Amino acid sequence: MSNIGSYEERLRDFDWGIARQVLGWQDGELLNIGHICSDRICARGKGAKTALIWEGFGDRKARYTFDDLRVWSNGFAKLIRDDLGVGVGERVCVFMDKIPSLYFSFLGILKAGAVAQPLFSAFGDESLEVRLKSAGTTAILTTQKHVKKVRKLRERLPALKHVVVVDGDPTKVQPGETYFDVERAPRVEEFESFRAEPESRSVIHYTSGTTGQPKGAQHVHSSIWSQALTTSWVLDLRDDDTYWCTADPGWVTGTSYGIIGPWALGATQAVLDSGFVAERWYRFIQDNRITVWYSAPTAIRSLMREGEELVRKFDLSALRHLASVGEPLNAEAVVWSQKVFDGKPFHDTFWQTETGSIMISNYPGMPVKPGSMGKPFPGITATVLDLKTKEPIREPGRVGLIAFRPGWPAMFRIYWNQEDVYRSKFAGETAGRTPTELRTADDLWYVSGDRASIDPDGYYWFVGRDDDVINTGGHLVGPFEIESALIEHEAIAEAAAIAKPDPVNMEVVKAIVTLKPGFAPSADLELSIMNFIRKRLSPLAMPQEIEFKDKLPKTRSGKILRRYLRALEWGEEAGDLSTLEDD
Ligand code: PRX
Repeated sequence: MSNIGSYEERLRDFDWGIARQVLGWQDGELLNIGHICSDRICARGKGAKTALIWEGFGDRKARYTFDDLRVWSNGFAKLIRDDLGVGVGERVCVFMDKIPSLYFSFLGILKAGAVAQPLFSAFGDESLEVRLKSAGTTAILTTQKHVKKVRKLRERLPALKHVVVVDGDPTKVQPGETYFDVERAPRVEEFESFRAEPESRSVIHYTSGTTGQPKGAQHVHSSIWSQALTTSWVLDLRDDDTYWCTADPGWVTGTSYGIIGPWALGATQAVLDSGFVAERWYRFIQDNRITVWYSAPTAIRSLMREGEELVRKFDLSALRHLASVGEPLNAEAVVWSQKVFDGKPFHDTFWQTETGSIMISNYPGMPVKPGSMGKPFPGITATVLDLKTKEPIREPGRVGLIAFRPGWPAMFRIYWNQEDVYRSKFAGETAGRTPTELRTADDLWYVSGDRASIDPDGYYWFVGRDDDVINTGGHLVGPFEIESALIEHEAIAEAAAIAKPDPVNMEVVKAIVTLKPGFAPSADLELSIMNFIRKRLSPLAMPQEIEFKDKLPKTRSGKILRRYLRALEWGEEAGDLSTLEDD
């Protein structure tokens, strides 16, 4: 029997209060995510249980109990609050690979009452700078490997008071930086965690939109109700599971389901901090007897490419539940997983940085329709809205905008310093309402920015994004960020970044540029541009191709028509340029 039992029955009289039952919550307990994921599990008698099984490049391995998690996160909490003097609500960035200290420090930041800002360690200078500037980040925790990028930016980031290096040789730390290796520092047995209110800020995740720089989606401590309940009902995690979430905590999947949900439930998590190598992945599952696996379509398609023979070399019999998120999970990938993993399909789940937790999903026990994202989570009111009128579509099969009635616990509370953009995500009468009123309104819709249709059985079928954001390998890349980097190159006059089809990543980035007078297209110039932007962007945002054009199509007001360029690239009906509206 799965944790959710009958999906249909769970829909009846649903109340988020059930999350408390799932966690065994008592009134008056401390609602602090850092505390709940470590101290609370120890207090419930599971201190000696393995919390983290970790493997890195080569044969580096480590194991940590919940008591270790408690003590090492205390160490970071003390550093942040007592030694550095970081105040409640200040942003502390975690900028490291998936090493154990990333997990300890994330929880430590929350225990200290600060806001955790995890950023993907592969980010180049510019990607990092934009996000630290936007958040007004006070402190950054990083490693010897990545601190160089921070050093280059420090002068330009007046709010950044502390740079902490958490590993390596203490003599390599420069003046003005703090060295803190938690496992070598004195143990901090007791730390009184910040007494968070349900609305106290917890985590800020940056996500890309079509226009402007990335936006910081702000989450709060009470998000844990959604995260814990969905971990139980969708991922079906139980006490004796060994769970692997392949996502990096630089993205929301890696925090909501790679830290918070599973550890709130006291489950053992495995983390593999190495790049994608199919054999290594299968060995990791086999050797650690992984039972529940949450991954992403690009990884699954990459495994498919390596063929069935490779899978069969490993004993993956411990696996019992598989789920996927981040981009469309094609029907072939579901059918393939059923075949090679002994009848177990990947269960597609749909959600976003902004939603904080799974919104639409295939549940254990509910028939999977390969290619469909499944049905809304109990407690989530979902619909698709007419593209023009923004009214809910009643008839099955018609494509509209996926939208949710606001108010579930893990919903983001604001885009940091961008209330207008936050406001623009709601359909309905928003004028005169505060951000909190928007979030709790029962007559508004939060519009996801994705298109889908709903079939007569209530299953959602993803169609595509409603904007120009590129989803490459499950990661959203904003065209504006790439274009901004491109036009800083001396030869480039104008630039457009669009998606181009790709068999594994589904989409990859393509840049289309025009040149300034005096410059001519050449292979050398293309190389020079690539080298120029490589340092500024994350590897994922790097264009796979640069096309030179004499001019770019524009709207009457002069905005570059990415949508038109994209349609040309995909061989789709591009429409008549003269009728394309400014929007
Ligand atoms: O376009 C949708 C796509 O990823 C977007 C959210 O990306 P992000 O905020 O980075 O969060 C990713 C992990 C939660 C969505 O707006 N997306 C996510 N899940 C799916 C998906 N597209 C199709 N199918 C999915 N299951």
